Amino acid sequence: MYGLVNQAIRDMVVERFGAEAWADIRALTGAEELFLTMQQYPDELTFSLVEAVCKLQGTEADAVLQAFGEYWIEYVAKNYRELFAIAGGDFVTFVKNLNSLHTRVAQMMPELQAPGFSISDEQEGRFVLHYHSRRNGMQAMIPGLFQGLGRRFATRVSLTYLEGKAEGLDHDCFQVEYSRHEGN
Ligand code: HEM
Repeated sequence: MYGLVNQAIRDMVVERFGAEAWADIRALTGAEELFLTMQQYPDELTFSLVEAVCKLQGTEADAVLQAFGEYWIEYVAKNYRELFAIAGGDFVTFVKNLNSLHTRVAQMMPELQAPGFSISDEQEGRFVLHYHSRRNGMQAMIPGLFQGLGRRFATRVSLTYLEGKAEGLDHDCFQVEYSRHEGN
């Protein structure tokens, strides 16, 4: 994965738990102090960073990935402001543009192995989200990512896992329910 992801994990750890926690994670994983955003690193390194956070904080990987999903939205919205802005001004439009967003990201990062998203069973306030990934083990990020999007678009969002790779499918499915609210 591109170093951007590891760098975001590092920044989340430093912001939330302090520089010492990051030093401990480096000691456990052998990770560098900083990552080059545009350079490729093995996926195993990213997973070992998540594991190290779990070990130090005494939390489950799913909880760390969920928190990281929410953090990721703030992180890319801040660091890729324009790309983010053109993907849409409301929750559903943005979700429908996630693939074209990653296609634009791939113009800068040609080796990107982007996720694929599609929706089905669309009704007022709900739809089924299909998340396709060449990787395994990242589905726990999805509820956090969508909560983060909800927060940006003043929308209450809740996700329920329906079925997926754990049940032998080739992708993961979530029921998404959402409603707009005023203010924060
Ligand atoms: C400007 C905004 C964004 C940028 C620059 C960006 C960039 C990236 C990068 C660099 C990766 C690592 C993949 C690799 O290196 O092969 C990635 C993965 C991923 N991104 Fe994005 N992303 C953005 C927005 C989003 C949003 C809004 C979502 C979802 C709501 C999202 C969902 C994901 C997921 C789930 C993965 C994991 C990859 C996988 O499933 O294999 N991203 N993205």
